[in-house]
Amino acid sequence: MTSTTSYIAPAALRIDPASGFMEHATRHYEKRFRDLTGLYADDGAFRRLAADLGEVVVYEVWEHKASEAPGDLIVGTSVMKPGKVGDEYFITRGHIHARADRAETYYGQAGRGVMLMESPAGEVRALEMTPGVMVYVPPHWIHRSVNVGSDTLVTVFCYDSAAGQDYGIIERAGGMRSRVVDDGRGGWKLVDNPAWSPAGR
Ligand code: NI
Repeated sequence: MTSTTSYIAPAALRIDPASGFMEHATRHYEKRFRDLTGLYADDGAFRRLAADLGEVVVYEVWEHKASEAPGDLIVGTSVMKPGKVGDEYFITRGHIHARADRAETYYGQAGRGVMLMESPAGEVRALEMTPGVMVYVPPHWIHRSVNVGSDTLVTVFCYDSAAGQDYGIIERAGGMRSRVVDDGRGGWKLVDNPAWSPAGR
């Protein structure tokens, strides 16, 4: 007996914990330091660093996206180099899902990170992502990864493959409400972003 139904093929995706390389990725992309213009509070520090680090790859994603069929998932790794711009730790651009009611998980694989989250009402949550910790990002929360350690941060993500990303929600508000900075004692703390104004979104 034959069937004409075509199912998506299952896959086993081996992940190298240290580098974040994922086998059978359907997409791999990189961001260089200069691509992150405008994200950090200290623009002078950013420009000074960019003179040396501008072409350095500071962020990579390996992802496996089989389809955008209803119910399908995208899985992959996010790889972030360590560093600071002024006293602010390296961050990703951050987004809300274009379909904002779609949640996401991030599993800490290597390094020490923070998932910075902001609800539409302006509530802020920052949760550490260390190896063995699964962070759950609920629907409707803006989210951004922060590398607060001295090593590469590798996390494994999973979300609805049709969720998409809206990056403009952060830009329109002048950034996220809080920034993650060096606390001067080897750790991190949240500080208010005075440029934040959610009215525009
Ligand atoms: Ni997301």
